[in-house]
Amino acid sequence: MNRIRFALTAAALAASVTAAQAQQPPLKVGLMLPATGTFAALGDAIEKGFKLHVQEQGGKLAGREIQYFKVDDESDPSKATDNVNKLIKRDGVDVIVGTVHSGVALAMARAAKESNTLLIVPNAGADAITGPQCAPNIFRSSFSNWQPGYATGVIAAGKGYKRAMTITWNYAAGTETVKGFTEAFEKGGGKVVKDLSLPFPNVEFQALLTEIAAQKPDVVFAFFAGGGAVKFVKDYDGAGLRKTVPLMGSGFLTDGTLEAQGAAAQGLITSLHYGDNIETPRNTAFRNKYAVAYKANPDVYAMQGYDAAQMLAAGLTAVKGDFKQRDALIAAMKKAQIDSPRGKFTLSPQHNPTQDFYIREVKGNYNVVTGVAVKALPDPGRGCRM
Ligand code: PHB
Repeated sequence: MNRIRFALTAAALAASVTAAQAQQPPLKVGLMLPATGTFAALGDAIEKGFKLHVQEQGGKLAGREIQYFKVDDESDPSKATDNVNKLIKRDGVDVIVGTVHSGVALAMARAAKESNTLLIVPNAGADAITGPQCAPNIFRSSFSNWQPGYATGVIAAGKGYKRAMTITWNYAAGTETVKGFTEAFEKGGGKVVKDLSLPFPNVEFQALLTEIAAQKPDVVFAFFAGGGAVKFVKDYDGAGLRKTVPLMGSGFLTDGTLEAQGAAAQGLITSLHYGDNIETPRNTAFRNKYAVAYKANPDVYAMQGYDAAQMLAAGLTAVKGDFKQRDALIAAMKKAQIDSPRGKFTLSPQHNPTQDFYIREVKGNYNVVTGVAVKALPDPGRGCRM
């Protein structure tokens, strides 16, 4: 009798929890990503990755329907504060997911901190976001700019190169990635003899390529991404430099770009926290599902979007979808181990992924992993007080 009553009470309780969950309104997710400009394809891949994970969970996270609000940030820092406030103030979103461009993301992080809105950065590497601008409500599913730069510097020094030149866009992602490269390359016995740059998102590379040809360094390190990376790799090859001065870069140089770069990219060596042929059941399943859903291969950006959703899901699940339990939700996100297609990762105390950086070589349309440059590389998190 007692046992029956207990069973009935438990069933009633379970039914009421489910009913409470069902009554919760949809969780409002603001996607602030580039839909136009040189990073448009990157924003598209992030959104597809995020939505793929939500779809896998039946269109809900921890029982909550998801309602999307979208803003095209155009990768334009001068419009970033206005754009992010459309999501925070006009739409009243619970969570913001964005963005690609470091300069835009820095403004988003400021607005998120001021309004205490949960922010998950699915790409932009601006070091300050998990450094001096860190905050309990700001997380990253991607990398800090320092990380892939540093890992590529380890590879370049390991190859015995002594004199390097660097080339990039003159904004946070470029300068910070170059800084990471220089730190590791010079620690490994090399010397960066010259840094070249041009304003974002310019692609008039000829004068700078002429300078590289004149200086003949042992290696060139480049940070470019998206449409700019396509043009740079083709121009480097077109100038006849690929055969005489090896070109290396953080893996964004060749990720999501290979079909457009074609022969010009073959053999390039880069480092990144993802590669196309990571042969784990987790990555294979991700790639297959992505290909079925979107008729395209996923890239690093798709993977980072997917993991932003996984991080949000980890927090929401811990509070059974009750977003008002913010402290418990954030505590769960902080200590989650994310089962990512890249390999499992955890977050540093500053909320940046501590992850392996692979050595990758371009073969055909794939960035093929040939080894690991640095295992479980944490961002130093310099300047973060939390
Ligand atoms: C950035 O601005 O932080 C950024 C943009 C594109 C990338 C990587 C980093 O591929």
